Amino acid sequence: MSSPQVEVLLEPDWAAAALVADVRRGLAQQPRRLPPKWLYDTAGSDLFDRITRLPSYYPTEAERSVLVERAGEIAAASGATTVVELGSGTSDKTRQLLDAFAEAGALERFVPVDVSETTLRDAADMLSARYPDTEVEAIVGDFTLHLGHLARYDRKLVVFLGGTIGNLYVEERAAFLGALSDSMSPSDGLLLGTDLVKDADRLIAAYDDPEGVTEEFVKNGLRVLNRELGADFEPEAFGYVPFWDSRQKRMDLRLRAEVPQHVRVPGADLEIDLAAGEEIRMEISTKFTRERIADELAAVGLTVADQWTDPAGDFAVTLATKV
Ligand code: SAH
Ligand code: AVI
Repeated sequence: MSSPQVEVLLEPDWAAAALVADVRRGLAQQPRRLPPKWLYDTAGSDLFDRITRLPSYYPTEAERSVLVERAGEIAAASGATTVVELGSGTSDKTRQLLDAFAEAGALERFVPVDVSETTLRDAADMLSARYPDTEVEAIVGDFTLHLGHLARYDRKLVVFLGGTIGNLYVEERAAFLGALSDSMSPSDGLLLGTDLVKDADRLIAAYDDPEGVTEEFVKNGLRVLNRELGADFEPEAFGYVPFWDSRQKRMDLRLRAEVPQHVRVPGADLEIDLAAGEEIRMEISTKFTRERIADELAAVGLTVADQWTDPAGDFAVTLATKV
């Protein structure tokens, strides 16, 4: 078995410095907010993995069904020799795609990119064993900062699955897509998974499971601040408030202080007073229409080559190329 290469693009003090900056900026805003990438320490990645197996969390199985159905077609259409995966996590569904590329004998290299180092290393080990003829070059990096590093790969298909693009704010998404397009050449492709707008009840159910796994995942963000910055948040003193923002077309996942709280965050040299009922937005999850996806891609010079959904029309997978 060949071992995967792991390149760490994050400076040793990256987490500390970037987390401090994000916390100082985010907690000063109204509503207070934190960027969701901090939800994914090892415990958070494990909780997300449990979310993907909840009956009410439909996106994972909906996207998987598209990949099962279309992987061969995607591999043939893309003609790529390198597959790069952003926010790869466990790369579980991606194996459908990698199997199809491997079967066609075309896959030279797989490059998973994620901030969550333990999960990435475990996945890279698993993938190296499964695809012995493919170089696995894992990158511990931030896809909002490090897309420039992808320009070195030609004939690549960049895959960004799970609907993770919906966790970025609209202006972050435009910057991300612009940088992604800049890192691509005309022979490259993008495979993008996006959750679609649907009935509010189903959306809320997907983010409010009765077992409370999603609540734990969201509250894990406070535990990360307690551990990394010596903060004294009491996760049990917060209620979990997921709601559908029909104007912005996004789920808004917040924590609400049940009682007034004075919170110290010494690592960020910060103290905040939360009034009873005050909320912190921990994550958004934007839902798309097929037109909106095509428009946002077109704005950065990417053209939709094909677009599929699962039979219920819940989730879209879009193959795009650079014009
Ligand atoms: N692609 C997988 C996992 C989705 S969970 C799936 O479809 O199921 C989102 C993943 O993105 C997590 O593994 C998280 O660690 C990673 N992630 C979140 N923000 C990131 C960022 N800014 N840069 C790199 N990875 C990020
Ligand atoms: C990773 N991302 C696409 C998930 C989502 O659905 O927005 C994260 C998540 N948060 C709560 N449940 C799942």
